[in-house]
Amino acid sequence: MLTSIKTNSFEGNKSKELGMMYFRVAIILFGAQLLFGLVAAFQFLVPGFLFELLDFSVARMVHINALVVWMLYAMIGSVYYMLPDETGVETVGVGLGKLGFWVLTVAVTIVVLVYIFVQVGAGTEASIWLIHEGREYIEAPRWADIGIVVVVLLFYWNVFASYMKGKQTGIMTVMVANLLALAGLYMAGMFFTDNISMDQFWWWWVIHLWVEATWEVFVGTLAAYALIKIIGAKREVVEMWLWIEVLMLFGSGILGMGHHYFWIGTPEYWWEIGALFSALEPVPLIAMFVHVLYDWGKEQGIAHAEGKTGTVANNTPALSWIVMNAFGNFLGAGIWGFFHTLPQVNIYTHGTQFTAAHGHLSFFGAYATILIGMIYMGVQGAYGVEKMKSTFKTKMALFLIAFGVMGMTIALTIAGYEQVLVERAELGATWNAFFVAQELPWYVQAQLWRAVMGVVTFVGFIYLVWDLLTIGTQAKKVQA
Ligand code: HEM
Ligand code: HEM
Ligand SMILES: [Fe+2]
Repeated sequence: MLTSIKTNSFEGNKSKELGMMYFRVAIILFGAQLLFGLVAAFQFLVPGFLFELLDFSVARMVHINALVVWMLYAMIGSVYYMLPDETGVETVGVGLGKLGFWVLTVAVTIVVLVYIFVQVGAGTEASIWLIHEGREYIEAPRWADIGIVVVVLLFYWNVFASYMKGKQTGIMTVMVANLLALAGLYMAGMFFTDNISMDQFWWWWVIHLWVEATWEVFVGTLAAYALIKIIGAKREVVEMWLWIEVLMLFGSGILGMGHHYFWIGTPEYWWEIGALFSALEPVPLIAMFVHVLYDWGKEQGIAHAEGKTGTVANNTPALSWIVMNAFGNFLGAGIWGFFHTLPQVNIYTHGTQFTAAHGHLSFFGAYATILIGMIYMGVQGAYGVEKMKSTFKTKMALFLIAFGVMGMTIALTIAGYEQVLVERAELGATWNAFFVAQELPWYVQAQLWRAVMGVVTFVGFIYLVWDLLTIGTQAKKVQA
């Protein structure tokens, strides 16, 4: 992982080096995300823990903002990494990209420090500019918002200009168009209104249209690129799948946004629109699942028929994480999402721990997995190894992180189930009912198990970092 700083095998390819810079910060922020998650989880069990030092509201805020930011870093890193391979030319304006990287990293550091050191105070115009904007997941203060827009414009220019200069593959065409939408949507979450319904209305344009439309398409392009690189899948097949996925993802995901418009004061026709289109959202996720396993099985089968033994993959850690993505995306977003997407169900589950269960499994399954896979591809490239095999540490990381997140998801699903029964159905969703439900054993025990599984996840993360730091050298030795 660290090799790429000075001695790497990119042969002067600056775009890939830049990609690795983003990957490194992504991993650090991922670690921070988990640590703050552990603090927040512990506060469910011991509410006074770190009170007035690191309040739950702040721990939770850092946890979920770090999540979004590390994923954006890993996404930008992935694009810089794949760009020269896809376009066939050196990325235009890598120097600007480096400048953008440093501006972004300094801004993120300042924002996090401000979150931690200024925890309470009046909500004024100044706090929107300097402290945070108070929109879940995208809480950066306005000065940082503007900085982010500038950095993203630099990034987009790099991608677009390289695309125009080089080859225009199907994968890159989807990437360039989709990134424009992804970046543009960020602006829907940047203006202030004191009407909470309006605020939520636009805020979902960012959150929902990111995770259920543009980020999913992004993942589709990454999977397409990675399958070609890792198992030698045929470009024509992969790109055909990609276009179908794009059609289905946007076809269901855009109006699927209605599932967030059930109870915020938007017109009631959103019930039907949201129910119908969001219920279709799992369909492309099934397609993506089938696609990855189909290509893998096909290439493996061809290799065996030719009398070759062993795996076709030249990077088993990356392939493992990408296969995990196929499962996790379908389970976390598709199944756990579908559970609560109809208004008849959502009226009971809305905002319970069930939502948090879905939030964890989907963000992990759909995004964390494949981005980790891309980082492994980066490591392979940086060390210049032709075949990178999973080590004991790779497997421990994969197993413990997956087991931990699944465990947290099940625990939270149980807590949510209890809330639905007691707080919503039995006690009628009153203020008091909320607290009663949180004191019952099912809820308390579920929160305990979530904390335990959180620790398991964190141990897996330590294995992951250890593996990323060592696997390249090891693979190089084997190769030599
Ligand atoms: C990878 C894709 C997805 C991610 C990362 C994701 C993530 C999330 C998160 C974090 C929330 C909670 C937002 C909040 O703080 O209020 C949420 C809410 C929700 N998600 Fe997803 N989601 C994904 C896909 C889906 C899909 C495909 C469906 C439906 C089939 C779905 C249905 C819902 C619903 C109905 C809610 C509202 C829950 C409530 O009323 O409390 N999600 N999602
Ligand atoms: C060490 C492991 C982790 C622990 C202990 C943990 C703990 C927590 C806690 C306590 C919350 C606040 C829940 C609430 O407000 O009721 C939370 C929220 C959240 N976490 Fe984690 N988390 C961990 C890992 C992860 C991972 C790996 C992801 C995704 C990749 C993730 C994504 C989220 C999301 C999306 C939310 C907001 C959910 C919502 O409000 O609906 N967390 N987490
Ligand atoms: Fe949604």
